[in-house]
Amino acid sequence: MSKTLDYIKKRRSPKKYIVDYKLTTTEVEEILESIRWAPSSVGLEPYRVIYLENKAIREELKEFCWNQPGTVDASAMIIWLGYKADFVKNKVMPEQNDRNVPVDFEKAKQYRINAYNNVIEGYAITNEEFVARQAYISLGCALVTAEEIGIDFCPVEGMEPRKIEAVLQKHQLIDLNNEFVCVAAFVGKVDKNQRHYHAFDKIRRPETDVYKVIK
Ligand SMILES: Cc1cc2nc3c(=O)[nH]c(=O)nc-3n(C[C@H](O)[C@H](O)[C@H](O)COP(=O)(O)O)c2cc1C
Repeated sequence: MSKTLDYIKKRRSPKKYIVDYKLTTTEVEEILESIRWAPSSVGLEPYRVIYLENKAIREELKEFCWNQPGTVDASAMIIWLGYKADFVKNKVMPEQNDRNVPVDFEKAKQYRINAYNNVIEGYAITNEEFVARQAYISLGCALVTAEEIGIDFCPVEGMEPRKIEAVLQKHQLIDLNNEFVCVAAFVGKVDKNQRHYHAFDKIRRPETDVYKVIK
């Protein structure tokens, strides 16, 4: 079995965390770099993340994270800030085109702009949904890296994003003209001395329901 599959099979989303466990700087970097190097549609990279260790701010966020213990007890909360449509159009897309498209390939820039517009139209989604899809891919990459380095990682949708934004704005951690909260994660160490440290046993749907190989 590949190491990656082994990590995916073994990893769990913790529900209870060892309070005051702190990731090392190297561990934090490994996780953040996995987010930065994740692929994204048309290479747009339309998000950034906040790695929030500050417990006082996380206390303020807790009630808007469905009172999940990880909000404060985990080593940190990672919050993905996605970019809004005008910002994508006027800043992110041109910047990424300049960064990633070599000078001899000017037509590729317009191709990427068209591809972004066509995906949004073809899948009938908003810019925010497009951006969130890309953010979730990076979340998946970070989750596997975390397992490889022995860190427990829980993706977090259980929150009220608009209220999280208000708290982040109060602390000047988000630019609400251009950014929105799209998803989050808790990172730390599971506390097996607490009850219900994982939800239930790890079970998945049978292979035959999930995939079919066509030859
Ligand atoms: C996008 C996403 C959002 C999630 N949000 C939460 C959450 O807010 N709180 C939580 O405890 N678990 C959350 N989970 C974890 C799932 O409940 C968990 O992955 C699933 O039950 C399978 O368990 P496992 O991760 O231990 O294999 C989320 C998972 C994903 C992929």
